[in-house]
Amino acid sequence: MAGLQGRRALVTGAGSGIGVAMSLRLARDGAAVMCADINEDAARRTAAQVAEAGGFAEAVRLDVTSEDEVRDVIERTIVAFGGLDVLMNNAGIAGGDWERTVAVNLTGVYYGLVHAAQAMALRGGGSIVNTASVAGLVGLAGMQPPAADAPPPSSGYVAAKHGVVGMTKQFALAYAGRGVRVNAICPGYIDTPLIAGVTSVEAGRAFLESLHPMGRLGRAEEVAAAAAFLASDDASFITGTTLTVDGGYTAR
Ligand SMILES: NC(=O)c1ccc[n+]([C@@H]2O[C@H](COP(=O)([O-])OP(=O)(O)OC[C@H]3O[C@@H](n4cnc5c(N)ncnc54)[C@H](O)[C@@H]3O)[C@@H](O)[C@H]2O)c1
Repeated sequence: MAGLQGRRALVTGAGSGIGVAMSLRLARDGAAVMCADINEDAARRTAAQVAEAGGFAEAVRLDVTSEDEVRDVIERTIVAFGGLDVLMNNAGIAGGDWERTVAVNLTGVYYGLVHAAQAMALRGGGSIVNTASVAGLVGLAGMQPPAADAPPPSSGYVAAKHGVVGMTKQFALAYAGRGVRVNAICPGYIDTPLIAGVTSVEAGRAFLESLHPMGRLGRAEEVAAAAAFLASDDASFITGTTLTVDGGYTAR
C-alpha cells in the first residue's frame, strides 16, 4: 500500500523508538519525511535508515519546548518538501520533573498543533497525529504502593497526556472546517528506550506485560501503523478522536 504517496510529513522525536518506526512507516507508505529530534545525530540516523529502506527523508535538530524552533522547523519542512501534509507530534519524555515533563509532553505538542494546523489550513489541509498514551485516558498503576509523603509518581506525565487528548479535541473542532484533521494515538507500554529503566529489570518487564490483557508489550511498528492510518485518506472522516494501541490495557 502507498496510502501517503506524495505527502510531506514531519515527525518529532524521530530519533528513537516510536518516532523511528513512524518515519520508516510513513516513508514506506510514500511520504517524504522530515525527521526532527533534540538529538540531531539520532535524527540523522533515522533519516539514513529511511534512505536505506528506499524512502526519502531529511533530518533536523528540534527542541519542541522552543516555540521559535517548532515554527522554524515547520517552515523549513515546507520549503524543503514544497508543503506539509502530515505532522506526527510525537516527541516525549518519561521520568522528568513536573516542569520539564509538561514542557515537552504538553507545551511541545501545543506548539506543533498551533503552527502546523495554521500552515496546513493555509495550504488546503492536512492531518496531525498527537502521540498521547493510555496515561491520557486513565491513571497509571505503579509496581509499589504510592509513598505517603510524596506526590504520586507520573503525575506530570498523566496530566500532560490527558492534556494532549483534550487539545486533540479542541484543535479538531477548530480546524474541522478548514481541512485539517487532528487525532491522537494512545499507546500502552511499548518496548522502546523510553521505558528501558523498567524493562531492563525482569520483574519490571513482567509487571508491565501483566498490565496488558494480551500479555505482552507493544512494538513501535504497531503504533506507527495506527498513526499512518490516521494520517492517511483512509481516515478521511475521522477527527478529534483517540485510537488506543494498547493490547487491551484500557478495556478493563
Ligand atoms: N514507550 C512507551 O511505552 C510509550 C507509551 C505511550 C506513549 N508513549 C509516547 O510515545 C512518544 C515516543 O516515545 P518513545 O517510546 O518512542 O520514546 P523514546 O525515548 O524512544 O523516543 C523519544 C524521542 O524524543 C526525543 N525528544 C525528547 N525530548 C525532546 C524535545 N524536547 N524535542 C524534540 N525531541 C525530543 C528523544 O531524543 C527521543 O529520540 C512519547 O510522546 C511518549 O510519551 C510511549
